Amino acid sequence: MNVTTVLSYLVVLLSFGSASDSSKQTRDTAFEIYKKLFEVKRKDQINALNNLIELNDVNQQYKIIDIMLKGLFKVLEDSRAILTASGVQPDGAFPDEEKIKDAYSHTVENSAFFGDVVLRFPKIVHHYFDRNSNWNNLIRWGIGFCNLSGIFNDGPHSQLLGLMAQELGISEKSPDYRNPFKTENMEFLSTTDTFQKALKEEEKRRRKEEKRKEIRKGPRITRSRSEL
Ligand SMILES: *[C@@H]1O[C@H](CO)[C@@H](O)[C@H](O)[C@H]1NC(C)=O
Repeated sequence: MNVTTVLSYLVVLLSFGSASDSSKQTRDTAFEIYKKLFEVKRKDQINALNNLIELNDVNQQYKIIDIMLKGLFKVLEDSRAILTASGVQPDGAFPDEEKIKDAYSHTVENSAFFGDVVLRFPKIVHHYFDRNSNWNNLIRWGIGFCNLSGIFNDGPHSQLLGLMAQELGISEKSPDYRNPFKTENMEFLSTTDTFQKALKEEEKRRRKEEKRKEIRKGPRITRSRSEL
């Protein structure tokens, strides 16, 4: 167990001793505890992503990210429904009901994680994200929620929301926008012909596959008829 983990367990233990605090103080304590847990979670997420980078296989990375994003946005969608239904404000009292607390933490953790993924794998994420207006809608809401929550105000993630919003095209790119991970990842590093060729072929294959899916779904039939 590392120091942060031990520390957050300690803080959790300590918090039970302060149950007689005023409600404002209890809420602040709950929030501070959550921030510690959030840091632990972030470390796990970033480790997982580093493993994905080290995989060094674009094809596998596409597949994994595809599955990952579907899961991530499903969770975000469900969490938004719960938070909205229960009227939770990101800058209001930290929720204490288990189900709502989960929705809250899933929202900030998945939004942050999506930021990590888009900054480390911009090409792959844009491939899936750019034509999905539901995802766009969800992450706009997620970024707004995170921004108001105060969890990202200081510390190691203070840049994350701004960077991801620019990378996703949700806020306008400032002239000095720079993706800080640009040198760490093979998606950027591998400029060799073989790699570029493999990437292009994989993208072409995926576009074809999606076109096939769209045709099978049928919404294009009327249009293609009128085009004839
Ligand atoms: C976060 O909120 C501040 C204040 O409203 C705003 O200026 C900033 O653009 C927001 N950041 C993002 C990434 O939305």
